[in-house]
Amino acid sequence: MSVESIVRAVTTYRLTEMKQRGEKIAMLTSYDYSMAKIVDAAGIDVILVGDSAANVMAGYETTVPITLDMMIYHARSVTRGAQRALIVVDLPFGTYQGNSKLALDSAVRIMKETEADAVKLEGGEEILESVQRILSAGIPVMGHLGLTPQSIHKFGTYNVRAKEEAEAEKLVRDAHLLSEAGCFAVVLEKIPAALAARVTKEIPIPTIGIGAGGGTDGQVLVIHDMLGINKGFSPRFLRRYADLHEVMTEAVTHYIDDVKSSEFPNEQEQY
Ligand code: KIV
Repeated sequence: MSVESIVRAVTTYRLTEMKQRGEKIAMLTSYDYSMAKIVDAAGIDVILVGDSAANVMAGYETTVPITLDMMIYHARSVTRGAQRALIVVDLPFGTYQGNSKLALDSAVRIMKETEADAVKLEGGEEILESVQRILSAGIPVMGHLGLTPQSIHKFGTYNVRAKEEAEAEKLVRDAHLLSEAGCFAVVLEKIPAALAARVTKEIPIPTIGIGAGGGTDGQVLVIHDMLGINKGFSPRFLRRYADLHEVMTEAVTHYIDDVKSSEFPNEQEQY
């Protein structure tokens, strides 16, 4: 088997090169085969199998309840649909914090059972040992700083993080720690644009922003939000590229009407 057949076109190395030449990185979430196929064929650089699946796929209020088995199910579906993009999978809450052996076991399960390319963990210094242990097994790690939704019960709100100097300085330190440990990229979520731009200049690995302004090396959005499937979530940073809620509602009501009025199926649509 050639290396080309097991390594996707977009690699962690390629993302570093993109940062070096100032080429922006486009990342989107996907949680299933059909969506991943569309997103991949459109040319996305990175697909994140985010634990936001807890919200948009499973209907939970927070990302806390999603399990490793659920993430593996979503990740397997995505890797079957995508050939080109780098595929990163979130380690869910409770599978890596405070226990680096558990973290390694969780990451190994993701890699063995899903054929994904990398894992993502939320946090800085507190989870550094877990990050290092996963990296020591040769598994690429993406960091995630700023608003880390798995800590929602600690934060108490989804408001912008790191507005105060102490939290901002900790975030900068954490970004350096993750970069020095060997992470290949870091997500910066919902922090002031100036802080995200500063981190992006200071560390050699790519930063991927969500609600962190235009000064990062790339951007990520949750696909259900940017396609307008999920209409109940409208933060300032979200740009909607379609209104699929409307398109789908119209199609479904049209179908119902056609069935009820015996318009569907017609003679050409039967055997
Ligand atoms: O789970 C997710 O979708 C994420 C992104 C918002 C970065 O972590």
